[in-house]
Formats: sequence, structure tokens, C-alpha cells
Amino acid sequence: MIIAGHRGVKSVCPENTLVGIAKVAELSLPWVEIDVQLSADGVPVIIHDRTVNRCSNGRGKVGELTLEQLRELDAGSWFDAAFANERIPTLAEALALCQQLKLKLNLELKVYRGDNVEALCRAVAQQLADCQFASADLVLSSFEHQAMLLAKQLMPHYLRGQLWEGVPRNWQAQLQALDAYSAHCDWTHLSEAEARAIKQAGYQLYCYTANEPAKVRAHHQWGVDMLISDSPQAFINDREHDWLA
Ligand code: G3P
Ligand code: MG
Repeated sequence: MIIAGHRGVKSVCPENTLVGIAKVAELSLPWVEIDVQLSADGVPVIIHDRTVNRCSNGRGKVGELTLEQLRELDAGSWFDAAFANERIPTLAEALALCQQLKLKLNLELKVYRGDNVEALCRAVAQQLADCQFASADLVLSSFEHQAMLLAKQLMPHYLRGQLWEGVPRNWQAQLQALDAYSAHCDWTHLSEAEARAIKQAGYQLYCYTANEPAKVRAHHQWGVDMLISDSPQAFINDREHDWLA
């Protein structure tokens, strides 16, 4: 079972920051999940929400702020004053850090209503090409099926996963259309039958956001391959179960 850090290590670092990504490596975990969107001037940046309001000292929509405006913001103090120097990372910075720390990356293409999905995919494709990110070290995912279809077209050599809350009835058709590597869902929605069917069909199965080991022991038995967690330390320190085996 792979235990991955969600938005870095969200429980102990401000989410989607470089310090959060580095924390994953510090815990000796191999995978990190982060979210990417475009700034108003078309630069891919690492942030989850549609606005900067919750995770910085600024206000406004990510897609309506230029990179320069985004970079002025303090993306750490909202979490703890000790992180006051954190900035909203560019995708380029996040990719370089993953390469430096030898971290594998689940990059979530975060799409909100009205976003230009094609511009996002093209910009991400360009950044991945610029730093020659290893195709074995990246899984692209999105709740937005259209974004993943574009990813298939524009970045065909990178692995693709479809994100859902619960597994939909047409899961097989969606995964086939993407030529997908993985299926990603909320662990609270997943049934044993769904897990076993997805594994039987040959896909990797990733679950978010599992923070209490005792609640997902069964998922391990069902064949879930990766748990994405705000608190990966809880899995590392679980005395009842060897999650990393
Ligand atoms: O990629 C898994 C998980 O991050 C999806 O939900 O809202 O945390 O991006 P969210
Ligand atoms: Mg995410």
C-alpha cells in the first residue's frame, strides 16, 4: 500500500506549499498529491480553492490574479506564523522540488466552472516538457473528465487517473475513454464490490482523504493501492498494521 501526502502534508504544513511537499520526503514517503490551476496570465500555480481567501492573506479568484499578484501573498501565516515565508508555488517550482527530492507526483488538474480547461492542459504540458518530468513519476488526475481527455491528447505519455467522489455507474467507460492508469475516489463512498471490480479490470485504485488508519483497514484488503492522507504520519506510526508493506 502506498501512503501519499495530500496537498503536501496538510495536517502539519500549509497546504500546497513547497514546505509541505518537502515534508512528504522528510517522512520518507514516495508520493505527494497537489492541485494546479492557472493564474490570470496563464501560469500554472499550486493551489486548491477557486480563491486565495482561505489559504493566503489575499482576496480574489486565482484565475483573476496575475502571477505577480499571487506571489506577493503570504501563503503560510493563515496556518501558522512559522510559515510566513511560504508563497503560492508555481508548478515549475513544485516539479523541480519533486525532482530534487525524488518524489512521485499525483498532479490534480483543478477545474472550476468557467475555467479554460484547454489552456490549463497546454500550460501544464509545457511545464512538464520544460523540466522533462519522468513519465513514471507522475499521475495526472481530475474530477473534470474533459480535462483528462485533453490530457490524453496533449500529454499522452503521462499516466492518467479519473477522480470521483463515489464510483459512477459508467466507471468502466470513463476509464476506457481515458486509457486510464488509475481510478481515484473518496474512501467513504467506496464499496468492496466496486473496489474489487476496478482491481479486476486492471486499474490502480487510489482513495482520498484517509486520515484515520482504523477506518480504512478493510480498504487495504479490498486491494486499494494508494491512500492519500492529510496525516500520513498516522499511518507510519500505526502499531496495529504495517501500511507501508
Ligand atoms: O486528488 C485527491 C483529492 O485531492 C481530491 O480532492 O478537493 O482535496 O482536491 P481535493
Ligand atoms: Mg486534490
